[in-house]
Amino acid sequence: MSTTASQPVIVAAIGGREVPVHLGPGTLSQVGPLLAAQALGDGALVVVDSGIASAGEQVAQSCRDAGLRVAVEPVPAGEASKTLGELERLSRAAARAGIRRRDAVVAVGGGVVGDLAGFLAASYQRGVRLVQVPTTLLAMVDSSLGGKTGVDLPEGKNYVGAVYQPEAVVMDTRVLGSLPARELSCGFAEVVKYGLLVGGDLMEMVAGWPDLPGPDAELADLIRRCAECKLEVVAEDEFDLGRRAILNLGHTVGHGIEAAAGYHLYHHGEAISLGLLAALRVSEQHLGLAPEWRDRTMATLQRHGLPVVLDPSVQVDQVLQLMSRDKKSDGRALNMVLLRAPGDVLTHQDPDPAVVRAAVEELLP
Ligand SMILES: NC(=O)c1ccc[n+]([C@@H]2O[C@H](COP(=O)([O-])OP(=O)(O)OC[C@H]3O[C@@H](n4cnc5c(N)ncnc54)[C@H](O)[C@@H]3O)[C@@H](O)[C@H]2O)c1
Ligand SMILES: [Zn+2]
Repeated sequence: MSTTASQPVIVAAIGGREVPVHLGPGTLSQVGPLLAAQALGDGALVVVDSGIASAGEQVAQSCRDAGLRVAVEPVPAGEASKTLGELERLSRAAARAGIRRRDAVVAVGGGVVGDLAGFLAASYQRGVRLVQVPTTLLAMVDSSLGGKTGVDLPEGKNYVGAVYQPEAVVMDTRVLGSLPARELSCGFAEVVKYGLLVGGDLMEMVAGWPDLPGPDAELADLIRRCAECKLEVVAEDEFDLGRRAILNLGHTVGHGIEAAAGYHLYHHGEAISLGLLAALRVSEQHLGLAPEWRDRTMATLQRHGLPVVLDPSVQVDQVLQLMSRDKKSDGRALNMVLLRAPGDVLTHQDPDPAVVRAAVEELLP
């Protein structure tokens, strides 16, 4: 058992604060030493996804070993837990556990627990310390980074929340060993997105990736590269007013597909797989992207179990309608992210709706 805190692999400077990212096998045991090293509060509330309780217990034990008072609160797995009701339940559990202003909330789980417990940390007693411990690939490369936290309303996803940066992000690649194949694939769709955004050798690394999750050392490297891309963008645009929009590559059509399929047919990453293909086709028409990139991307997505053909039960008209209602669109008709080449990205593009329709129709069998 290690009692000293490890060195971070990335330190992002976001809004005048430093956000260190610790990454590697066995880093779960670093959470206690990291919190204790700050010499602030002596209490920690570990909020853990019920599907990965053992990781929560390891984190809790590392906090106890570091001399902290620890309470553990499991959250039922699934998006249905991202509610104001669950936020109230956790807030009251924190109060009963005597969590105070200088204590910490530790979020152990995928994006659901990261968003929920992140918002708990942002709002409980007007803000306590937060450590994100992402346990899904999607959470490691995306949701645990950048500070977006929140819960859903019946009226819409992520409708109540805050931008609140964690004091540290701790990623233990070992936990991915238990992640179901479908969840790994979904996270990989975001990895493919980063490959396209960054281009160069990251694009090649992604295109040549072996079966998921892949060899541990290379996997840590891949996650680090994706995390660096996201954090660089966030450091420039923490509150999503400009450049952060590039992270929406594949998401305009993807969100339309997710919504048109009623949020049950496709998981988010699967809809993004299809959305990326549409965005690449529109990029060919508008910006002259070479067709080989869409072909290669399609082969990569397919090889890792992601859909490249749209289920015929999904109505194209509905996809297009729901796309233009995406809450991230800022009044422009479609507002897409398009590529001239991998690594050469343009945001706030307003492509010809007929080209977009054709790119979605083409996904049908
Ligand atoms: N904050 C952001 O910037 C941001 C970005 C993208 C997505 N999100 C949010 O993230 C959420 C999706 O996150 P997700 O894809 O991680 O899903 P998730 O949190 O629902 O986790 C997926 C499933 O995997 C299980 N699980 C988690 N870790 C495991 C492990 N190591 N081994 C075995 N099972 C494990 C969970 O119990 C769950 O059933 C959505 O609510 C979305 O809105 C937020
Ligand atoms: Zn996404």
